[in-house]
Amino acid sequence: MTFRPNRVTVFGAGYIGLVTGACLAELGHDVVVRDIDPAKVEALQAGEVPIYEPGLGDMIARNKERLRFTLDLGEALAQAEVAYVCVDTPPSASGDADLSRVWSVVRSLAGAEGLRAVVMKSTVPIGTGARARALLDEVGLAGAGYVSNPEFTAEGRAVRDFMGPDRIVIGTDGDETAAALVAGLHAGIDAPVVTMDVRSAETVKLASNALLATRISYANEMANLCDRTGADVTKVLAAVGMDHRLGPYFLNAGIGWGGSCFPKDVEALRQIASNSGFHPMLLSAVIDVNNIQRRRPLQGLKDALGDLAGREVVLLGMAFKPGTDDMREAPSTVLASRLLAEGARVRCWDPLARPGDVEPWASAVRYASVEEALEGADAAVVVTEWPQLAGVDWAAVAELMRRPVVFDGRNLLEPARMREWGFTYMSIGRP
Ligand code: UGA
Repeated sequence: MTFRPNRVTVFGAGYIGLVTGACLAELGHDVVVRDIDPAKVEALQAGEVPIYEPGLGDMIARNKERLRFTLDLGEALAQAEVAYVCVDTPPSASGDADLSRVWSVVRSLAGAEGLRAVVMKSTVPIGTGARARALLDEVGLAGAGYVSNPEFTAEGRAVRDFMGPDRIVIGTDGDETAAALVAGLHAGIDAPVVTMDVRSAETVKLASNALLATRISYANEMANLCDRTGADVTKVLAAVGMDHRLGPYFLNAGIGWGGSCFPKDVEALRQIASNSGFHPMLLSAVIDVNNIQRRRPLQGLKDALGDLAGREVVLLGMAFKPGTDDMREAPSTVLASRLLAEGARVRCWDPLARPGDVEPWASAVRYASVEEALEGADAAVVVTEWPQLAGVDWAAVAELMRRPVVFDGRNLLEPARMREWGFTYMSIGRP
Protein backbone atom coordinates (compact mmCIF):
# COMPACT_ATOMS: atom_id res chain seq x y z
CA MET A 1 0.00 0.00 0.00
CA THR A 2 1.39 3.41 -0.89
CA PHE A 3 1.72 5.93 1.93
CA ARG A 4 -0.71 8.84 1.79
CA PRO A 5 0.07 11.79 4.02
CA ASN A 6 -2.88 13.38 5.80
CA ARG A 7 -3.54 16.94 6.86
CA VAL A 8 -3.66 17.02 10.63
CA THR A 9 -4.40 19.79 13.11
CA VAL A 10 -3.34 19.27 16.71
CA PHE A 11 -5.17 21.45 19.24
CA GLY A 12 -2.95 22.18 22.24
CA ALA A 13 0.83 22.67 22.28
CA GLY A 14 1.47 21.10 25.68
CA TYR A 15 3.45 17.89 26.28
CA ILE A 16 1.03 15.63 24.45
CA GLY A 17 0.18 18.03 21.65
CA LEU A 18 3.81 18.80 20.81
CA VAL A 19 4.87 15.17 20.90
CA THR A 20 1.85 14.08 18.85
CA GLY A 21 2.36 16.87 16.30
CA ALA A 22 6.09 16.28 15.94
CA CYS A 23 5.74 12.49 15.67
CA LEU A 24 2.92 12.69 13.09
CA ALA A 25 5.09 15.07 11.04
CA GLU A 26 7.99 12.64 11.40
CA LEU A 27 5.70 9.90 10.06
CA GLY A 28 5.18 12.07 6.97
CA HIS A 29 1.91 13.91 7.68
CA ASP A 30 1.33 17.59 7.17
CA VAL A 31 0.71 19.02 10.63
CA VAL A 32 -0.44 22.31 12.13
CA VAL A 33 -0.34 22.68 15.92
CA ARG A 34 -2.72 25.33 17.23
CA ASP A 35 -2.57 26.88 20.70
CA ILE A 36 -4.31 29.89 22.24
CA ASP A 37 -1.22 31.07 24.15
CA PRO A 38 0.53 33.71 21.99
CA ALA A 39 3.84 33.49 23.88
CA LYS A 40 4.00 29.72 23.41
CA VAL A 41 3.17 29.90 19.71
CA GLU A 42 5.68 32.69 19.10
CA ALA A 43 8.40 30.70 20.84
CA LEU A 44 7.61 27.60 18.78
CA GLN A 45 7.57 29.62 15.57
CA ALA A 46 11.01 30.93 16.52
CA GLY A 47 12.24 27.34 16.92
CA GLU A 48 12.20 27.27 20.73
CA VAL A 49 10.63 24.27 22.44
CA PRO A 50 8.96 25.35 25.70
CA ILE A 51 9.26 21.95 27.42
CA TYR A 52 12.14 19.61 28.12
CA GLU A 53 11.60 16.32 26.29
CA PRO A 54 14.55 14.36 24.89
CA GLY A 55 14.57 14.20 21.09
CA LEU A 56 11.60 16.53 20.66
CA GLY A 57 13.53 19.67 19.69
CA ASP A 58 15.50 17.83 17.00
CA MET A 59 12.37 16.17 15.67
CA ILE A 60 10.56 19.53 15.41
CA ALA A 61 13.58 21.10 13.71
CA ARG A 62 14.02 18.37 11.11
CA ASN A 63 10.31 18.37 10.20
CA LYS A 64 9.80 22.10 9.83
CA GLU A 65 8.58 21.67 6.25
CA ARG A 66 5.66 19.63 7.54
CA LEU A 67 5.08 21.13 10.98
CA ARG A 68 3.69 24.61 11.63
CA PHE A 69 2.49 26.39 14.76
CA THR A 70 -0.36 28.86 14.78
CA LEU A 71 -2.66 30.95 16.92
CA ASP A 72 -5.04 31.36 14.03
CA LEU A 73 -8.18 29.23 14.25
CA GLY A 74 -9.01 29.77 10.57
CA GLU A 75 -5.66 28.31 9.51
CA ALA A 76 -6.13 25.41 11.93
CA LEU A 77 -9.59 24.58 10.60
CA ALA A 78 -8.61 24.90 6.94
CA GLN A 79 -5.90 22.31 7.56
CA ALA A 80 -8.00 19.88 9.58
CA GLU A 81 -8.77 16.65 7.81
CA VAL A 82 -8.04 15.04 11.16
CA ALA A 83 -8.27 17.10 14.39
CA TYR A 84 -6.44 15.93 17.51
CA VAL A 85 -7.66 17.20 20.88
CA CYS A 86 -4.56 17.45 23.10
CA VAL A 87 -5.55 19.91 25.82
CA ASP A 88 -5.26 19.69 29.61
CA THR A 89 -7.97 18.08 31.70
CA PRO A 90 -6.87 19.19 35.18
CA PRO A 91 -8.79 18.07 38.27
CA SER A 92 -11.53 20.50 39.34
CA ALA A 93 -12.36 21.34 42.95
CA SER A 94 -14.75 18.36 43.10
CA GLY A 95 -12.00 15.95 41.98
CA ASP A 96 -13.70 15.39 38.59
CA ALA A 97 -11.67 16.30 35.51
CA ASP A 98 -12.24 19.84 34.26
CA LEU A 99 -13.23 19.42 30.60
CA SER A 100 -13.76 23.09 29.76
CA ARG A 101 -10.75 23.19 27.40
CA VAL A 102 -11.88 20.01 25.65
CA TRP A 103 -15.35 21.44 25.01
CA SER A 104 -13.96 24.71 23.82
CA VAL A 105 -11.81 22.90 21.21
CA VAL A 106 -14.68 20.67 20.09
CA ARG A 107 -16.99 23.71 19.71
CA SER A 108 -14.31 25.61 17.82
CA LEU A 109 -14.26 22.88 15.16
CA ALA A 110 -17.57 24.14 13.72
CA GLY A 111 -16.78 25.29 10.22
CA ALA A 112 -13.97 22.82 9.55
CA GLU A 113 -15.25 21.83 6.14
CA GLY A 114 -12.80 19.07 5.30
CA LEU A 115 -12.95 17.42 8.72
CA ARG A 116 -13.16 13.62 8.59
CA ALA A 117 -12.11 12.57 12.10
CA VAL A 118 -11.84 14.06 15.59
CA VAL A 119 -9.33 12.25 17.78
CA MET A 120 -9.43 12.52 21.57
CA LYS A 121 -5.90 12.25 22.98
CA SER A 122 -6.56 14.17 26.19
CA THR A 123 -7.22 11.90 29.17
CA VAL A 124 -10.95 12.22 29.79
CA PRO A 125 -13.59 10.65 32.05
CA ILE A 126 -15.43 7.58 30.81
CA GLY A 127 -18.45 8.74 28.80
CA THR A 128 -16.82 11.89 27.40
CA GLY A 129 -16.89 10.42 23.89
CA ALA A 130 -20.68 10.23 23.85
CA ARG A 131 -20.90 13.89 24.93
CA ALA A 132 -18.32 14.92 22.34
CA ARG A 133 -20.22 13.05 19.62
CA ALA A 134 -23.43 14.89 20.55
CA LEU A 135 -21.61 18.23 20.53
CA LEU A 136 -20.07 17.55 17.11
CA ASP A 137 -23.55 16.76 15.75
CA GLU A 138 -24.87 19.96 17.32
CA VAL A 139 -22.21 22.16 15.67
CA GLY A 140 -22.90 20.67 12.24
CA LEU A 141 -20.12 18.07 12.13
CA ALA A 142 -22.23 14.91 11.96
CA GLY A 143 -20.07 13.76 9.02
CA ALA A 144 -16.85 13.73 11.06
CA GLY A 145 -16.12 10.50 12.93
CA TYR A 146 -15.14 10.49 16.59
CA VAL A 147 -12.22 8.36 17.75
CA SER A 148 -10.74 7.85 21.20
CA ASN A 149 -6.99 7.30 20.98
CA PRO A 150 -5.48 7.46 24.48
CA GLU A 151 -1.75 8.04 24.83
CA PHE A 152 0.59 5.95 26.96
CA THR A 153 3.73 8.03 26.67
CA ALA A 154 5.79 8.76 29.78
CA GLU A 155 7.54 12.10 30.25
CA GLY A 156 11.22 11.99 29.44
CA ARG A 157 10.65 9.21 26.90
CA ALA A 158 7.54 10.50 25.15
CA VAL A 159 9.01 10.58 21.64
CA ARG A 160 10.32 7.04 21.99
CA ASP A 161 6.99 5.84 23.43
CA PHE A 162 4.99 7.47 20.63
CA MET A 163 7.16 6.01 17.87
CA GLY A 164 7.48 2.57 19.52
CA PRO A 165 4.38 1.95 21.67
CA ASP A 166 3.32 -1.37 23.20
CA ARG A 167 -0.10 -0.91 21.58
CA ILE A 168 -2.22 1.66 19.79
CA VAL A 169 -5.72 1.79 21.27
CA ILE A 170 -8.50 3.01 18.99
CA GLY A 171 -12.00 3.50 20.39
CA THR A 172 -14.92 3.88 18.00
CA ASP A 173 -18.68 3.66 18.25
CA GLY A 174 -19.54 2.90 14.65
CA ASP A 175 -17.26 5.48 12.99
CA GLU A 176 -15.24 2.77 11.28
CA THR A 177 -13.99 4.92 8.41
CA ALA A 178 -12.60 7.50 10.81
CA ALA A 179 -11.10 4.74 12.98
CA ALA A 180 -9.34 3.25 9.95
CA LEU A 181 -8.09 6.72 8.96
CA VAL A 182 -6.63 7.29 12.43
CA ALA A 183 -5.08 3.81 12.59
CA GLY A 184 -3.59 4.52 9.15
CA LEU A 185 -1.91 7.71 10.42
CA HIS A 186 0.37 5.42 12.41
CA ALA A 187 1.66 3.61 9.31
CA GLY A 188 5.37 3.14 9.89
CA ILE A 189 4.95 2.30 13.56
CA ASP A 190 5.33 -1.35 14.42
CA ALA A 191 2.71 -1.98 17.15
CA PRO A 192 -0.57 -3.87 17.49
CA VAL A 193 -3.67 -1.74 16.90
CA VAL A 194 -6.38 -2.67 19.40
CA THR A 195 -9.85 -1.52 18.44
CA MET A 196 -12.76 -1.34 20.88
CA ASP A 197 -15.75 0.81 21.80
CA VAL A 198 -15.11 4.39 22.97
CA ARG A 199 -15.97 3.81 26.66
CA SER A 200 -13.57 0.87 26.85
CA ALA A 201 -10.78 2.88 25.19
CA GLU A 202 -11.34 5.73 27.68
CA THR A 203 -11.15 3.20 30.51
CA VAL A 204 -7.94 1.53 29.29
CA LYS A 205 -6.02 4.75 29.82
CA LEU A 206 -7.20 5.31 33.39
CA ALA A 207 -7.00 1.61 34.28
CA SER A 208 -3.40 1.37 33.01
CA ASN A 209 -2.21 4.32 35.06
CA ALA A 210 -4.13 3.13 38.12
CA LEU A 211 -2.54 -0.32 37.92
CA LEU A 212 0.95 1.15 37.55
CA ALA A 213 0.29 3.41 40.56
CA THR A 214 -1.08 0.39 42.46
CA ARG A 215 2.16 -1.51 41.89
CA ILE A 216 4.17 1.41 43.29
CA SER A 217 1.91 1.81 46.33
CA TYR A 218 2.24 -1.95 46.85
CA ALA A 219 6.04 -1.66 46.63
CA ASN A 220 5.90 1.18 49.17
CA GLU A 221 3.69 -0.82 51.51
CA MET A 222 6.15 -3.74 51.30
CA ALA A 223 8.99 -1.28 52.02
CA ASN A 224 7.21 -0.02 55.12
CA LEU A 225 6.77 -3.64 56.21
CA CYS A 226 10.46 -4.39 55.54
CA ASP A 227 11.40 -1.41 57.71
CA ARG A 228 9.73 -3.19 60.58
CA THR A 229 10.89 -6.74 59.86
CA GLY A 230 14.50 -5.99 58.90
CA ALA A 231 14.17 -7.37 55.34
CA ASP A 232 15.47 -5.46 52.30
CA VAL A 233 12.63 -4.41 49.98
CA THR A 234 14.93 -4.01 46.96
CA LYS A 235 15.99 -7.66 47.22
CA VAL A 236 12.44 -8.84 47.94
CA LEU A 237 10.83 -7.06 45.00
CA ALA A 238 13.64 -7.82 42.57
CA ALA A 239 12.94 -11.50 43.20
CA VAL A 240 9.15 -11.02 43.17
CA GLY A 241 9.41 -9.25 39.80
CA MET A 242 11.29 -12.19 38.28
CA ASP A 243 8.00 -14.07 38.16
CA HIS A 244 7.11 -13.75 34.47
CA ARG A 245 3.48 -13.22 35.46
CA LEU A 246 4.46 -10.05 37.33
CA GLY A 247 7.51 -8.54 35.64
CA PRO A 248 10.09 -6.19 37.17
CA TYR A 249 8.59 -2.80 36.26
CA PHE A 250 7.07 -0.20 38.59
CA LEU A 251 8.13 -2.02 41.73
CA ASN A 252 10.68 0.52 42.98
CA ALA A 253 9.83 1.69 46.48
CA GLY A 254 10.37 5.39 47.18
CA ILE A 255 8.61 8.47 48.48
CA GLY A 256 5.59 8.01 46.28
CA TRP A 257 4.35 8.64 42.78
CA GLY A 258 3.71 12.11 41.41
CA GLY A 259 3.54 13.91 38.09
CA SER A 260 0.73 15.22 35.97
CA CYS A 261 -0.83 11.81 35.32
CA PHE A 262 -0.92 9.25 38.12
CA PRO A 263 -2.35 11.48 40.89
CA LYS A 264 -4.93 12.97 38.54
CA ASP A 265 -5.93 9.73 36.84
CA VAL A 266 -6.16 7.53 39.94
CA GLU A 267 -8.25 10.23 41.64
CA ALA A 268 -10.42 10.57 38.51
CA LEU A 269 -11.05 6.82 38.43
CA ARG A 270 -11.91 6.82 42.13
CA GLN A 271 -14.28 9.72 41.53
CA ILE A 272 -15.93 7.99 38.57
CA ALA A 273 -16.46 4.87 40.72
CA SER A 274 -17.85 6.89 43.63
CA ASN A 275 -20.16 8.86 41.33
CA SER A 276 -21.49 5.61 39.93
CA GLY A 277 -22.42 4.39 43.40
CA PHE A 278 -19.67 2.14 44.71
CA HIS A 279 -16.75 2.68 47.00
CA PRO A 280 -13.51 1.71 45.20
CA MET A 281 -11.64 0.39 48.24
CA LEU A 282 -8.48 -0.59 46.42
CA LEU A 283 -8.06 2.72 44.58
CA SER A 284 -8.68 4.64 47.80
CA ALA A 285 -5.99 2.60 49.57
CA VAL A 286 -3.55 3.17 46.68
CA ILE A 287 -4.01 6.94 47.10
CA ASP A 288 -3.81 6.83 50.92
CA VAL A 289 -0.56 4.84 50.85
CA ASN A 290 0.91 7.45 48.49
CA ASN A 291 -0.16 10.42 50.59
CA ILE A 292 1.47 8.94 53.67
CA GLN A 293 4.57 7.86 51.74
CA ARG A 294 5.29 11.38 50.50
CA ARG A 295 5.58 12.56 54.11
CA ARG A 296 7.89 9.77 55.28
CA PRO A 297 11.10 11.82 55.24
CA LEU A 298 9.62 14.26 57.76
CA GLN A 299 9.38 11.61 60.47
CA GLY A 300 12.88 10.36 59.62
CA LEU A 301 14.28 13.88 59.96
CA LYS A 302 12.50 14.42 63.27
CA ASP A 303 13.86 11.12 64.61
CA ALA A 304 17.38 12.26 63.70
CA LEU A 305 17.18 15.98 64.54
CA GLY A 306 14.30 16.41 66.98
CA ASP A 307 12.44 19.68 66.39
CA LEU A 308 12.88 20.90 62.80
CA ALA A 309 12.48 24.60 63.62
CA GLY A 310 15.55 26.54 62.48
CA ARG A 311 17.16 23.48 60.84
CA GLU A 312 18.70 23.82 57.38
CA VAL A 313 17.24 21.03 55.25
CA VAL A 314 18.30 20.34 51.66
CA LEU A 315 15.94 18.83 49.09
CA LEU A 316 17.96 17.05 46.42
CA GLY A 317 15.73 16.99 43.35
CA MET A 318 12.50 18.86 42.75
CA ALA A 319 11.21 17.28 39.50
CA PHE A 320 8.68 14.46 40.02
CA LYS A 321 11.15 12.07 38.38
CA PRO A 322 14.58 12.37 36.74
CA GLY A 323 14.85 13.42 33.11
CA THR A 324 12.15 16.08 33.29
CA ASP A 325 11.70 19.64 34.56
CA ASP A 326 8.11 18.87 35.54
CA MET A 327 7.22 19.53 39.19
CA ARG A 328 3.52 18.84 39.00
CA GLU A 329 2.47 16.82 42.07
CA ALA A 330 6.13 16.19 42.86
CA PRO A 331 6.90 14.91 46.39
CA SER A 332 9.31 17.89 46.66
CA THR A 333 6.34 20.28 46.68
CA VAL A 334 4.73 18.49 49.63
CA LEU A 335 8.04 18.27 51.50
CA ALA A 336 9.03 21.91 50.92
CA SER A 337 5.76 23.28 52.20
CA ARG A 338 5.67 20.88 55.20
CA LEU A 339 9.28 21.68 56.16
CA LEU A 340 8.64 25.43 55.98
CA ALA A 341 5.48 24.96 58.07
CA GLU A 342 7.60 23.18 60.70
CA GLY A 343 9.93 26.20 60.80
CA ALA A 344 12.83 24.59 58.90
CA ARG A 345 14.91 26.54 56.38
CA VAL A 346 14.85 24.88 52.97
CA ARG A 347 17.49 24.77 50.23
CA CYS A 348 16.80 23.03 46.92
CA TRP A 349 18.89 21.58 44.15
CA ASP A 350 17.68 20.31 40.78
CA PRO A 351 19.46 20.27 37.40
CA LEU A 352 16.29 21.23 35.48
CA ALA A 353 13.22 21.96 37.54
CA ARG A 354 12.36 25.35 39.07
CA PRO A 355 9.10 25.94 40.86
CA GLY A 356 6.85 28.35 39.02
CA ASP A 357 5.17 31.27 40.74
CA VAL A 358 2.22 29.01 41.47
CA GLU A 359 4.08 27.28 44.31
CA PRO A 360 3.37 29.40 47.41
CA TRP A 361 6.63 28.29 49.04
CA ALA A 362 8.85 29.02 46.02
CA SER A 363 10.17 32.36 47.25
CA ALA A 364 10.96 30.98 50.71
CA VAL A 365 13.59 28.48 49.53
CA ARG A 366 17.17 28.91 48.34
CA TYR A 367 18.45 27.30 45.14
CA ALA A 368 22.04 26.15 44.85
CA SER A 369 24.45 23.60 43.39
CA VAL A 370 24.64 20.26 45.26
CA GLU A 371 27.80 21.07 47.23
CA GLU A 372 26.73 24.64 47.92
CA ALA A 373 23.33 23.43 49.11
CA LEU A 374 24.82 20.81 51.42
CA GLU A 375 27.45 23.00 53.05
CA GLY A 376 26.53 23.63 56.69
CA ALA A 377 23.17 21.85 56.32
CA ASP A 378 21.55 19.83 59.10
CA ALA A 379 20.02 17.21 56.80
CA ALA A 380 19.45 16.29 53.17
CA VAL A 381 16.63 14.38 51.50
CA VAL A 382 17.11 12.60 48.17
CA VAL A 383 13.74 13.41 46.59
CA THR A 384 14.42 12.65 42.91
CA GLU A 385 16.84 9.91 41.80
CA TRP A 386 18.91 12.14 39.48
CA PRO A 387 21.97 10.07 38.47
CA GLN A 388 24.19 13.10 39.29
CA LEU A 389 23.48 12.46 42.98
CA ALA A 390 25.03 9.00 42.87
CA GLY A 391 28.21 10.66 41.52
CA VAL A 392 28.54 13.15 44.40
CA ASP A 393 31.62 12.74 46.63
CA TRP A 394 29.59 11.83 49.71
CA ALA A 395 32.67 11.21 51.86
CA ALA A 396 33.57 14.87 51.33
CA VAL A 397 29.96 15.95 51.84
CA ALA A 398 29.95 14.30 55.29
CA GLU A 399 32.61 16.87 56.28
CA LEU A 400 30.73 19.76 54.64
CA MET A 401 27.41 19.28 56.43
CA ARG A 402 26.80 20.57 59.95
CA ARG A 403 25.12 17.25 60.71
CA PRO A 404 25.58 14.40 58.24
CA VAL A 405 21.95 13.27 58.11
CA VAL A 406 20.59 11.88 54.83
CA PHE A 407 17.10 10.56 54.15
CA ASP A 408 17.35 8.75 50.82
CA GLY A 409 13.78 8.73 49.52
CA ARG A 410 14.76 6.84 46.35
CA ASN A 411 17.15 4.17 47.62
CA LEU A 412 19.83 5.68 45.41
CA LEU A 413 22.87 5.48 47.70
CA GLU A 414 24.66 2.57 49.35
CA PRO A 415 23.65 2.28 53.05
CA ALA A 416 26.85 0.58 54.30
CA ARG A 417 29.15 3.11 52.63
CA MET A 418 27.09 6.11 53.73
CA ARG A 419 27.29 4.86 57.33
CA GLU A 420 31.03 4.21 56.97
CA TRP A 421 31.46 7.86 55.96
CA GLY A 422 29.69 8.90 59.15
CA PHE A 423 26.18 9.61 57.92
CA THR A 424 23.00 9.00 59.85
CA TYR A 425 21.47 7.37 56.80
CA MET A 426 17.83 6.40 56.32
CA SER A 427 16.20 4.96 53.21
CA ILE A 428 12.98 3.19 52.22
CA GLY A 429 12.62 -0.44 53.28
CA ARG A 430 16.33 -1.22 53.52
CA PRO A 431 18.15 -2.11 56.76
C1 UGA B 1 2.80 7.87 33.34
C2 UGA B 1 2.73 6.48 32.67
O1 UGA B 1 3.92 5.75 32.93
C3 UGA B 1 2.55 6.63 31.15
O2 UGA B 1 2.36 5.34 30.57
C4 UGA B 1 1.31 7.49 30.88
O3 UGA B 1 1.08 7.66 29.49
C5 UGA B 1 1.50 8.84 31.53
O4 UGA B 1 1.65 8.64 32.95
C6 UGA B 1 0.29 9.68 31.22
O5 UGA B 1 -0.81 9.34 31.68
O6 UGA B 1 0.37 10.60 30.41
P1 UGA B 1 4.71 9.69 33.76
O7 UGA B 1 3.71 10.39 34.63
O8 UGA B 1 5.47 10.50 32.78
O9 UGA B 1 3.99 8.52 32.91
O10 UGA B 1 5.77 9.04 34.74
P2 UGA B 1 6.25 7.59 35.21
O11 UGA B 1 7.57 7.33 34.68
O12 UGA B 1 5.21 6.58 34.98
O13 UGA B 1 6.39 7.86 36.78
C7 UGA B 1 5.27 8.23 37.58
C8 UGA B 1 5.66 8.33 39.03
O14 UGA B 1 5.88 7.06 39.61
C9 UGA B 1 6.94 9.12 39.29
O15 UGA B 1 6.71 9.98 40.40
C10 UGA B 1 7.97 8.07 39.66
O16 UGA B 1 8.96 8.54 40.54
C11 UGA B 1 7.09 7.04 40.33
N1 UGA B 1 7.64 5.66 40.28
C12 UGA B 1 7.73 5.01 39.09
C13 UGA B 1 8.00 5.02 41.47
O17 UGA B 1 7.91 5.60 42.58
N2 UGA B 1 8.43 3.72 41.40
C14 UGA B 1 8.54 3.04 40.23
O18 UGA B 1 8.92 1.85 40.25
C15 UGA B 1 8.19 3.71 39.04
